[in-house]
Amino acid sequence: MKTKILLLTALFLVICGINLPAKSVILNFVTDMFDQISIKPQEPGSMQSFPIGSVSIEGKMVDNPADRFANQVAEITPETATKNPVPQSVTSLENGKYIFDTYCIVCHSDSRETNEEGFATTEINKLGMIAPALISISHQFNDGYIHKKIKFGGAVMPPLGYATTEQERWDVVNYIRKLETQP
Ligand code: HEC
Repeated sequence: MKTKILLLTALFLVICGINLPAKSVILNFVTDMFDQISIKPQEPGSMQSFPIGSVSIEGKMVDNPADRFANQVAEITPETATKNPVPQSVTSLENGKYIFDTYCIVCHSDSRETNEEGFATTEINKLGMIAPALISISHQFNDGYIHKKIKFGGAVMPPLGYATTEQERWDVVNYIRKLETQP
């Protein structure tokens, strides 16, 4: 019995030791808490005003906290938005479709059809998700904005930057532009 307790204590300490550099010394096999949607204080669009000179997650200095939405607005204004560096080639469209069908279609669908509440007709929306039928609204947004939306997500939409590369996000943008041309 004593040996068992000793062994278990030793095992526990070893596991705690392995986890030391992590955010908690408590076993973190369950990481949902770290993965969930959260707005970091330094993120543009954050609800909080942060100290003058704070560096945003994009590495841009914000001199005046009142301007903290400026980066976001810049992505919507066509003249200042990040240009799409990836041409709408066959490969880009194929890859874009693959990524879109993997990550986006589950919430947004690839059609303009809407349910009674005006959201996309997807199973997940039946369960209370509120994802719009993307291709009926995406023409309002420029490429840079959609790219950024995929990377950082929104108030409800999960950020997918961890799951997609820069190139893949532009491929998705190209594919969305192609979907927009369908009736
Ligand atoms: C878990 C569901 C979910 C997934 C997966 C998802 N979205 Fe969304 N998306 C939403 C919701 C909900 C909104 C509206 C609220 C918000 O902006 O958070 C939205 C909004 C958007 C908007 C509108 C932007 C705006 O500012 O109104 C774009 C563009 C978009 N999503 C693109 C994508 C793309 C591209 C993918 C795949 C890479 C994707 N979404 C994956 C749920 C999702």
